[in-house]
Amino acid sequence: MIELAAVLDMAQVAQAGAMLDAADWVDGRATAGHQSAQVKRNRQLPEGSPAARKLGELVLSALERHPLFLTAALPSRVFPPLFNRYEGGEHFGSHVDNAIRQVTGTGLRIRTDLSCTLFLSNPGEYDGGELVVEDHYAERRVKLAAGDAILYPATSLHRVEPVTRGVRTSCFFWVQSMVRDAGERALLLDLDLAINQLRDRVPEEGGLVQLTGLYHNLLRRWATA
Ligand code: NI
Repeated sequence: MIELAAVLDMAQVAQAGAMLDAADWVDGRATAGHQSAQVKRNRQLPEGSPAARKLGELVLSALERHPLFLTAALPSRVFPPLFNRYEGGEHFGSHVDNAIRQVTGTGLRIRTDLSCTLFLSNPGEYDGGELVVEDHYAERRVKLAAGDAILYPATSLHRVEPVTRGVRTSCFFWVQSMVRDAGERALLLDLDLAINQLRDRVPEEGGLVQLTGLYHNLLRRWATA
């Protein structure tokens, strides 16, 4: 799981908040699969609504400038961002996201390798509402500052705890990665981060050229562009 700090700045978070307050919301089960519809209790902006489109573009252009998102996800296709809202005990029980999502109104299909949640409410504005991601060994409870995002494997079971006070709004979407295998993706991220550290600390180190070549040769071997 990778935390992405400050995907949106405070002014963008405020802009998003004002648009979301003014928007029309629908039952979140509109985009849920059969199993998740049984445990999903929240509201969403309708897919493709003007507010969802405008805010989605804001999020996508911010992601394109976020170096950690680019190197961690190695994105090939990103699902148009969706927006949800929880209040008054609303929650989303344990589920796994559909493996393939079709973008409504297009023939475009996306394999959901990674899920991403971008928090749009500050933790002080609501109680509960943690995103809980289960892996084989533990549960990770995530509640980030507004503007921060978490990237996690779409293969994991996850849920959103009931929001018992206030309102939690967030943006969520899926990423099809150029590198399908999560283990290969993790190795590439480690290598890239290590190369960046070396470049900062010992820029004259000649081995950096070979390491950078190694990174690109592994990417060439594993990626589908
Ligand atoms: Ni989900």
